Amino acid sequence: MTSEKTTSEQTTSERFEVSHLVNLAARLAREAGDLVSIGRRSGELGARTKSSATDMVTRWDGASESFIVERLRSARPDDAVVGEEGARSEGSSGISWLIDPIDGTTNFLYDLGGYAVSIAACDDDGPVAAAVYVPSVRELFTATRNGGAFLGSVPLSCSNTTDATTALIATGFSYDAQRRTAQGSRIAKLIGQVRDIRRLGAAAVDLCHVACGRVDGYFEESLQPWDLAAGLLIATEAGATSSDFSGGPVRPEQTVVCAPGIHRALMNHLA
Ligand code: IPD
Ligand code: CA
Ligand code: CA
Repeated sequence: MTSEKTTSEQTTSERFEVSHLVNLAARLAREAGDLVSIGRRSGELGARTKSSATDMVTRWDGASESFIVERLRSARPDDAVVGEEGARSEGSSGISWLIDPIDGTTNFLYDLGGYAVSIAACDDDGPVAAAVYVPSVRELFTATRNGGAFLGSVPLSCSNTTDATTALIATGFSYDAQRRTAQGSRIAKLIGQVRDIRRLGAAAVDLCHVACGRVDGYFEESLQPWDLAAGLLIATEAGATSSDFSGGPVRPEQTVVCAPGIHRALMNHLA
């Protein structure tokens, strides 16, 4: 998922477009994040189940998505939009937006801080501009393709470890009981081969943690495109390596994103 063009080869108008996209994503992620964190305090969650008895959605997931989609449609009416909670519209500009209005809804439900709003603008080559905002700690992660990744205004670099045996690895689990049982068996094998495992509850935040070296790597199976797009750009722009479990292109079904120095070892454990 990388473009052929380096930053210096991009035209001024391409650079202007990308900076417009990332600024828009950042503003909407922050505003939607503030909306849901204030909503959380109201105590009116409107929680119901989705794909399984443990897959929850709240009225604030819907409110966040509606807010973002409405603003995007007015700012960029020719772009396509896909949101987790059902937003779908075609576009003609070549840019499509992938929105996870609350990534980490289980954390949100239980009033744990580890949830985020995740927004990515994508073209034919994948994510080109991304923002992930974590309201509980007011952290805004952004990235543009070939333009680096940032936490606020601070440039990010992933971990430079080369030793998987001392690596801290984040992961997540599917909402499907059978799948998560299989994922648990994989973890049971891996946990003796690395420093430790973290399951923090939001894929976008896990990927941002890879970007800033708070974990050395992250892997998960059965993500959705909106879980992955923004965090992937942020992590890879911070220097992380990405792939599927056999070294092919990263995809939501199989995602490994980690410090380059442990990529081979981690893949070997997951293969
Ligand atoms: C979930 C979270 C979780 C991951 C799941 C995702 P949601 O997204 O990112 O960490 O393990 O695979 O579905 O449902 O909270 O938006
Ligand atoms: Ca998600
Ligand atoms: Ca979500």
